[in-house]
Amino acid sequence: MKANIDPLLSMEHVEISYQDAGKWKTIVHDISFQLFPGEMVALTGLSGCGKSLTAHALVGLLDKGFRVTNGQIIYKNENILEFDERRLEQLRRDEIALLIQHSLNGLNPIQTVKKQMVETVKLKKKWDKNDMQISLLSLLKQVGLLDSEQILSSYPFELSGGMRQRVLLAMMLSLQPKIFIADEPTTALDVINREKVLALLKQLQEELNLTILLISHDDKSVKKYANRVIQMDQGGIVL
Ligand SMILES: Nc1ncnc2c1ncn2[C@@H]1O[C@H](COP(=O)(O)OP(=O)(O)OP(=O)(O)O)[C@@H](O)[C@H]1O
Ligand SMILES: [Mg+2]
Repeated sequence: MKANIDPLLSMEHVEISYQDAGKWKTIVHDISFQLFPGEMVALTGLSGCGKSLTAHALVGLLDKGFRVTNGQIIYKNENILEFDERRLEQLRRDEIALLIQHSLNGLNPIQTVKKQMVETVKLKKKWDKNDMQISLLSLLKQVGLLDSEQILSSYPFELSGGMRQRVLLAMMLSLQPKIFIADEPTTALDVINREKVLALLKQLQEELNLTILLISHDDKSVKKYANRVIQMDQGGIVL
């Protein structure tokens, strides 16, 4: 599909291994897929098959002990696996944003939403106070949070799960990424909010021409929203 367009990102025969008591154990054996500009691709597979590891490898965030032991990840004609830490930081800030699994727990309980959003928005550029406020309000609006002044002054526990997930999405959007990887963005939510967050991702994909990799072990619910579904198991891509 889309054979006449160059992929934005290409995973090629990536193998991810873990060093345990001096021995390398391979967890993801051979995964290859491509992301084309503007599409939403779902990456699904059973729990434990290596979806999150794959996402982390993509942005150079593998845990200690893990390494990509084979293959390459090509983004804009460069192999991400050859990037040093500085380039990887730049990649995560300017190009590929990862919303990590269980990120809902990652919001700081004793800081207001505003304070946490400011930290992220500041990564991108310097702001004067007034512009910052306007930008925060507009980001919240973009993710469907209308009572935005109120939300900015709230603490995470005062918001529902669905609202907190939208705040996290707004923080990611502020980085204006080319590729957005959302690792299980809906698992902590109730059914209604799951649908709403997936619909929002779809809307953002279309409005901003974002390329989205949506990771989920729930292949049924993502099928409805994704342009393509990639099914993975420990051996690699199945479908
Ligand atoms: N830090 C770690 N230390 C040891 N093993 C790990 C670590 N992180 C992941 N693993 C193992 O690697 C395998 C792949 O994990 P990964 O988190 O990528 O799976 P997943 O497909 O994202 O699963 P889920 O759908 O439950 O999120 C699992 O067997 C897991 O136990
Ligand atoms: Mg996972």
